[in-house]
Amino acid sequence: MSEEFCDINDKGKSCCSSSEKKDIDLAEHWDKTYLKSPEEKLGWYETDLAPTLNLVAKANLKKSAKILIAGAGSTNLVDSLIDSGYDQLLASDISAVALKNLESRIGHEKIVFLVDDLTKPSHLLDINPVDLWIDRAVLHFFITNEEQGVYFDLLNKKVKSQGYVILAEFNLNGATKCSGLPVHRYSKEMLQEKMGPEFKLVESFDYNYVMPSGEQRPYIYTLFKKQ
Ligand SMILES: C[S@@+](CC[C@H](N)C(=O)[O-])C[C@H]1O[C@@H](n2cnc3c(N)ncnc32)[C@H](O)[C@@H]1O
Repeated sequence: MSEEFCDINDKGKSCCSSSEKKDIDLAEHWDKTYLKSPEEKLGWYETDLAPTLNLVAKANLKKSAKILIAGAGSTNLVDSLIDSGYDQLLASDISAVALKNLESRIGHEKIVFLVDDLTKPSHLLDINPVDLWIDRAVLHFFITNEEQGVYFDLLNKKVKSQGYVILAEFNLNGATKCSGLPVHRYSKEMLQEKMGPEFKLVESFDYNYVMPSGEQRPYIYTLFKKQ
């Protein structure tokens, strides 16, 4: 694959580190989170990927489509996309540990891993635009206008014309914290406003995700198409 590969063992080198303390703390926070729990105990671990996969199917992309899983963690959505035949995947995350777990499970033949911060992107600025951007449970951690502005600016630049975006975030009935961090909850109207008029809402639905603990977490799922 053509994009520069930021090796997940490079954490701490210039391509993967930041001089800003906030970034370092967040990377550490997420690394520790992934180190201390087996994957299937994580509060966002999914056994039923249907909500996302149904939206991917709606986009009706070629198997050669370029797909970014933003804030992928170690999600088994990646395994499922590979099993479905997609072979131009990028998985980004602030946590090198999460991506290392993913790499150990699926290898690196059909996927590029990028350790990067979606609110202070460096490597992500260099990727070629994608046909589909998938974010489940990541955007809602960006609570300042500045963080959200950087995220949506990046998204806008890195999604092709006629490309698609799946955003699945805590909805207005959702929890106010996740993984010990405050979250910003969304309705589909709020997401549309953030995406701007260039993106048309194709589909949306509420979904009650059930955590491994049995607790419920209400999400809003949206599929947008860029005009
Ligand atoms: C709740 S988990 C969801 C993981 C995955 N999307 C899923 O559905 O299983 C949130 C993910 O966002 C990542 N993350 C948090 N802040 C980030 C940031 N500023 N830039 C990139 N990734 C971030 C975390 O490391 C974590 O993997």
